[in-house]
Amino acid sequence: MNDLKQRAGIAAANMVRDGMGIGLGTGSTVFFTLEQLARRQKIEALDFFGVSTSFNTTLLCSKMGIKLKNCSFVSQLDLTIDGADEIDANLNLIKGRGAAHLLEKIVAKLSKRLVIVADSEKKVKALGEKFPVPLEILPAALGLVSIEVKKLGGTLDVRLAGASKDGPVISDSGNMIADANFGLIKDPSALSKELDSIPGLMGHGLFTGLAKEAFIAGAGGVEHISL
Ligand code: A5P
Repeated sequence: MNDLKQRAGIAAANMVRDGMGIGLGTGSTVFFTLEQLARRQKIEALDFFGVSTSFNTTLLCSKMGIKLKNCSFVSQLDLTIDGADEIDANLNLIKGRGAAHLLEKIVAKLSKRLVIVADSEKKVKALGEKFPVPLEILPAALGLVSIEVKKLGGTLDVRLAGASKDGPVISDSGNMIADANFGLIKDPSALSKELDSIPGLMGHGLFTGLAKEAFIAGAGGVEHISL
């Protein structure tokens, strides 16, 4: 599995050219993109800057010597490379297993292109097949969001940190992470709009119409999808 993630991650990193600003996603597949970018910096003197989508990616970039700019002060990026938890045939996505989906969406929106890197296990016929939809919620809005998710036919579970902390997972921006299960999602774009309209729901992991390109690695090699 790691080998597939590595192949997809490297293929996308090889799209980066001198002078580009690159959104750097979060997760175990993007890890290999970061490694390849650091390698290309050393071997080819590749000159680019990154914008990070999480503390985790920032820490990795710092270790690997990848130069970052602060998201708040960047108005456009050439490319964002990011992973996904589920990918449908139209490159609609569920993201947020690692709780970085809000920053990931902000950085993706700043980018001319969002390129997804994944192994073929992430492909689904319909979103919601394997994963619920991650939410990032202002703590004061937890009750409201729970009611609104129920009205939309879903159920909400606050995501617990497990052995590493008592209580909920808190995002890098200080909000609460929860997962909303809607079963199979028939119309991801309509659900995304409904979720966008809930006050206090700061972000959700449905990415519709954002990704136009993906590198998906499977047993037969790396498939490059371009819509
Ligand atoms: C982070 O919150 C997520 O959106 C990740 O990008 C997604 O879970 C993919 O991660 P992996 O590449 O580790 O599967």
